[in-house]
Amino acid sequence: MGSMNIGVLGTGIVGRTVGSRLVELGHAVAMGSRDTDNPVAHEWLASVGTARGARVGTFADAAGHGALVLNATSGAASIAALKLAGDRNLHGKVLLDLANPLDFSHGMPPSLSVANTDSLGEQIQRSFPDVKVVKTLNTVTADVMVHPERLPEETTMFVSGNDAEAKATAADLLRSFGWRSIVDLGGIEGARGQEMYLPLWVSLMGAQSTPNFNVRLVRA
Ligand SMILES: NC(=O)c1ccc[n+]([C@@H]2O[C@H](COP(=O)([O-])OP(=O)(O)OC[C@H]3O[C@@H](n4cnc5c(N)ncnc54)[C@H](OP(=O)(O)O)[C@@H]3O)[C@@H](O)[C@H]2O)c1
Repeated sequence: MGSMNIGVLGTGIVGRTVGSRLVELGHAVAMGSRDTDNPVAHEWLASVGTARGARVGTFADAAGHGALVLNATSGAASIAALKLAGDRNLHGKVLLDLANPLDFSHGMPPSLSVANTDSLGEQIQRSFPDVKVVKTLNTVTADVMVHPERLPEETTMFVSGNDAEAKATAADLLRSFGWRSIVDLGGIEGARGQEMYLPLWVSLMGAQSTPNFNVRLVRA
């Protein structure tokens, strides 16, 4: 895919890892945070440089900059972060939702704050009806998101969302990261399964003693 303006909402390991990969792929990335002086965001900017148009700012700055916007904020705070990003800055755009609604308030392992009949992806879609939400990448650790080839075998990435063109844009981005097996789960309600996979992911991480793994869909 050609170079795009991309807004990355989030300064955690996901925002920084995905943001760096996007810069490497030639995109102009704006990383958003609650605070323009966020030291982690500025460290990230120093690491990628400004030559390709990378910058940091508020959630609103990043959302306004992006033709494509990525939600890489804490699941518990994603709706609040997207409200700070602002309806006007998100209007009509494709929003890739990488977040998981993990609730750490009762200790480890985390539970899900929403499940079964609803999901964070759907909550975001309902809160921002003019945004084209695509749930993806939430089922793997940050490094695997952008370097699936580091796993020794091809594995599967899932997408769900209500807008076919938005899912095609998401798939283009995923392919540019190296994903080859991309499975479309249908509408944004597919986010339920993508998010409810997390308890299994957490158990697998414990059992494997590494976050660097993924699953592969094998069909008859
Ligand atoms: N870690 C992984 O490998 C991984 C893998 C798959 C999916 N995920 C999901 O990806 C998302 C990001 O994960 P992460 O580990 O990179 O970071 P994180 O610590 O879960 O989230 C950090 C981001 O959330 C924002 N945030 C926190 N509280 C907020 C609030 N009250 N209001 C508004 N924004 C708030 C922070 O804003 P500031 O920048 O202002 O501090 C920061 O940008 C999460 O939903 C996580 O479940 C993570």
